[in-house]
Amino acid sequence: MKNDILKVLISEDEIKEIIKRLGKQITKDYMGKDLVVIGLLKGCNPFMADLIRQIDLKLDVDYLAVSSYAGTSSTGDVKIRLDLNQSVLGRDVLIAEDIVDTGATITTIKKLLLHRGAKSVKIVTLLDKPAGRLMECYPEYIGTEVPNEFVVGYGLDFNEKYRNLPYVGVLKPAAYEKWGELCKNKINHKHQKENLIF
Ligand code: IMP
Ligand code: MG
Repeated sequence: MKNDILKVLISEDEIKEIIKRLGKQITKDYMGKDLVVIGLLKGCNPFMADLIRQIDLKLDVDYLAVSSYAGTSSTGDVKIRLDLNQSVLGRDVLIAEDIVDTGATITTIKKLLLHRGAKSVKIVTLLDKPAGRLMECYPEYIGTEVPNEFVVGYGLDFNEKYRNLPYVGVLKPAAYEKWGELCKNKINHKHQKENLIF
């Protein structure tokens, strides 16, 4: 798997440092609040696991799995595939994402949780790709910015693979070619199934 990586953008050590910093800041900001950290599956998985262990507060953990159909409108139509099993009414919610790109997912989920009565909804993302933005969206906590390149690892996938890389990197062109046919089929299938993005 590691042979498919062209370059490492964020090393394991850098990720550790980033998460320590985020955890410290979140601990400070949410002191005395009723914090629920909600991870967006599947990409949040390693990030969420490491982040919550750097937050020194009593908190709740929950997960959402979403899919989105981006029609002609850039807002997309985000559907819940797996819902929370607790109420967010009156609680302070922190959504944990692997990467914010267009901003469509996070904007929709934020609206939904506010509609459900959350007292506050903020976003923590390991990676921010501001060049990909299609709508105004400013995550409150950002690990680090990445250039407008497709990245994999530490939760982020290409064709459902590479999520288990311990760092964030960029694939060699050959890795895309190798998976080209399979990917094409999957993408077509995804489009038929409302463009699943999780
Ligand atoms: P958006 O902000 O609604 O465009 O969607 C963000 C989601 O798109 C993330 O949760 C990822 O699943 C996916 N995504 C965006 N950029 C990348 C990337 O560079 N690599 C892998 N997945 C990505
Ligand atoms: Mg994701």
